[in-house]
Amino acid sequence: MYTANELIEKVNKGVKNIQYNAEPQNLYAPIQYILSIGGKRIRPLLMLMGYNLYKDDVDTILNNALALETYHNFTLLHDDLMDQSDMRRGNLTVHKKWNENTAILSGDTMLIMAYQLFNQGVKNNEAWAAFIDATLGVCEGQQYDIDFETCNDVSEEEYMEMIRLKTSLLLGYALKIGAILGGADAEDQANLYAFGEKMGLAFQLQDDWLDVYGDPKKFQKKLGGDIVDNKKTFMLIKAYQLADETQKAELDKWMSGKDFQETKKIAAVTHIYNIVGISQLVQQKIEKLFSQALTCLEKVKVDSQKKTELRHFADKLLGRQY
Ligand code: IPE
Ligand code: IPE
Ligand code: MG
Ligand code: MG
Ligand code: MG
Repeated sequence: MYTANELIEKVNKGVKNIQYNAEPQNLYAPIQYILSIGGKRIRPLLMLMGYNLYKDDVDTILNNALALETYHNFTLLHDDLMDQSDMRRGNLTVHKKWNENTAILSGDTMLIMAYQLFNQGVKNNEAWAAFIDATLGVCEGQQYDIDFETCNDVSEEEYMEMIRLKTSLLLGYALKIGAILGGADAEDQANLYAFGEKMGLAFQLQDDWLDVYGDPKKFQKKLGGDIVDNKKTFMLIKAYQLADETQKAELDKWMSGKDFQETKKIAAVTHIYNIVGISQLVQQKIEKLFSQALTCLEKVKVDSQKKTELRHFADKLLGRQY
């Protein structure tokens, strides 16, 4: 069995070796750029780890794993355009470094390359169906995320479903595809999927928390973007529930305001989060989801010792700062 670090190494080498057509330069340079400036590589890693529970020849499915990472990076190009984010992985986003049309077309190209890579991997109908479900679902989640920006009565359940689609699916399916290709039975596939899904929910809650409370030196993205964009995060939904009338009016004012200084809006909304104790609430929810995730992992019918790397992975993810 491989350690997570060894598998990340394989993924990074694989990413470097992805072949591009030479021309047009302006189509492929942004793709190489986004894939070279960092990234935690957790999705391909989870696929390889899921597979490695059952089989050792992980290199066989490297292209399937690279497909998932390429797809994820496609979503980032379009997401940054949709969210008007200037910074990604500590660097300029593609639409800022190049322009918006480039982010659209290079993003589209990455989506196609993702399917091309998956097709160059191990051929398996079930895995293909899972890849398609995952990649379609993310777009559905992203649409809800955008719809919710202009909707003022998003419930906690709706938020959880939105993040399940936009984020959890990919983590769950990464493990599931690895398990399918590794020859796991349906029960193990489902439990690994559930492990990834719960972890994915926690992962997006963390991402939203970090967007407000992250350390600017470590987060690698600009803080406060979700507040500026009126994203209906768990934090905002809970803040509305816990706020008194004055605080609600203050939140309403910032949500409906058009001409505002971003820093002032971020400070004012964060101040309300602090007063009503949002940070602790999110942290509790994150911990609960991680513990539910681990319960699902325990049900997977392979030697407990084989699952050590995945347990460590979850523990490390729980304390992530970027
Ligand atoms: C960012 O994903 C998008 C979310 C789902 C929150 P990651 O946090 O995995 O981003 P990278 O790939 O490590 O940069
Ligand atoms: C995006 O969620 C999830 C994706 C599918 C890309 P966010 O919009 O919160 O991701 P970041 O914070 O920009 O990475
Ligand atoms: Mg974003
Ligand atoms: Mg987004
Ligand atoms: Mg975010």
